[in-house]
Amino acid sequence: MADIHSQRILILDFGSQTTQLIARRVREAKVYCEIHPFNISLKDIEEFAPRGIILSGGPSSVYDEGAPAVSRDLFDLPVPMLGICYGMQLTTRTLGGRVEKSTHREYGPADLVIDETGDLFHGLAPAPVRHKVWMSHGDRIEVLPPDFVKIAHSASCPVAAMRHAERPIYGVQFHPEVAHTEIGTEVLGNFLFRVCGCQPTWNMRSFIETATADIREKVGAGKVICALSGGVDSTVTALLINRAIGSQLTSIFVNNGLLRKNEPETVLAFLKGMGLNVHYVDATERFLTRLKGVDNPEEKRKIIGTEFIKIFEEEAGRIGDVNFLAQGTLYPDVIESVSFKGPSATIKSHHNVGGLPEIMKLDLIEPLRELFKDEVRSVALELGMNEDLVFRHPFPGPGLAIRILGDVTEERLEILRETDAIVLEEMKKSGWYRKVWQSFAVLLPIRTVGVMGDERTYEHVVAIRSVDSLDAMTADWTRLPYEILARVSNRVINEVKGVNRVCYDISSKPPATIEWE
Ligand code: XMP
Repeated sequence: MADIHSQRILILDFGSQTTQLIARRVREAKVYCEIHPFNISLKDIEEFAPRGIILSGGPSSVYDEGAPAVSRDLFDLPVPMLGICYGMQLTTRTLGGRVEKSTHREYGPADLVIDETGDLFHGLAPAPVRHKVWMSHGDRIEVLPPDFVKIAHSASCPVAAMRHAERPIYGVQFHPEVAHTEIGTEVLGNFLFRVCGCQPTWNMRSFIETATADIREKVGAGKVICALSGGVDSTVTALLINRAIGSQLTSIFVNNGLLRKNEPETVLAFLKGMGLNVHYVDATERFLTRLKGVDNPEEKRKIIGTEFIKIFEEEAGRIGDVNFLAQGTLYPDVIESVSFKGPSATIKSHHNVGGLPEIMKLDLIEPLRELFKDEVRSVALELGMNEDLVFRHPFPGPGLAIRILGDVTEERLEILRETDAIVLEEMKKSGWYRKVWQSFAVLLPIRTVGVMGDERTYEHVVAIRSVDSLDAMTADWTRLPYEILARVSNRVINEVKGVNRVCYDISSKPPATIEWE
């Protein structure tokens, strides 16, 4: 079997919002790549042995004080390079060309005219054909570095792409990684396959084989435990490890009493059906007792986190002689810890089992560390997870406790579960479930007056939230058709005892958050 990591691309991150997108596009072309900070040492680059290097865009100007820079020696490496936007300007400046402020910023769509097709633009129509590309820059190349030639231009950008006369060093001012650049896939593909000579070997089938072999080697005869939440990441982690070492893995599924309607039963049945050795712990009583009278959301989170760790430790102790703890860490969490400023600095991640590895002194196994979420979903489908589970909306670790504002009681949980189930059912029935990032119900700790039949009622208010998002960092409320909202409202008020009013949340993030807490 071809080693899926043997042909890899290094992406140097200069802090662009789209650095992760470059990586996703390269992976979609079935070539393995990693993102590293721009100041990684030359020695580390040589050890990484990339087939090609992509220099990302970035928010700085090359002349800013403290702007990220690279050593000239980088360009002496015998490796093909592609500078994108800031990456191109930095290449220019470092190799002796001149970059200057444009008379006006170019932001958004632009028409690119290809002056020379060559390898990078192979197969694309040359001048006078115009190609729609996406630009975002304030500076532009005024003087090419020695030995470079211009290969494309646009109305406000005389050098929109360049190449070295003899060596495989390229630069593009536009962003091939964004969907608005119609020729983006071709340009990146040409760089990967024609310039770098990569083969498309990275796919989820081969990933599964490689990951299985790696897990076997790492674990040997050891014992592994894994906390299952029923979410895609932890389930795929467990399925992969189960594939590698079978009964040496025990998965622990804790029912904290804060799950959605029928969730523990559905998840448990699925996991057992997949042949996992699952240890089910119903800790509903324990969690609800600890949460009694607590209405501060941060305190709720703390209590739930601490209780979870206690239970997990007790169960691990019962299993005995455990060596490894498996976690469903994904690639975006890994990049976050190394990246310079950039997109990563702003990403908030939620660690549901925070602190667990340190406390338990176990070695970590994180088989999904190099995957993006969409790749995890492909692995999940390959491993036989059904679409319902694979495309489930995100669900917070502290569960319904942060969707009940105020005190969490059995009665409130019951109301919220029933309401939430109706929301999900209607979203699925109408085909909207797969179109949105997340949809759910929130129970407010207030009552309002209503009238049912001849009687006045004084009951709970629920809010429905549905948002569109790409990464949960920003989100907008979904413009759901009125008919769906009407059906949900009607059903909730008629079917859920204790609710007489339904509202729809029309706030975006920021300034609101997705969860109400
Ligand atoms: P906020 O409310 O911060 O939520 O806009 C962003 C995304 O994160 C999810 N979320 C969590 N996910 N554990 C998780 O795994 C948590 O503790 C947690 N809290 C919030 C939230 O549902 C949304 O998708």
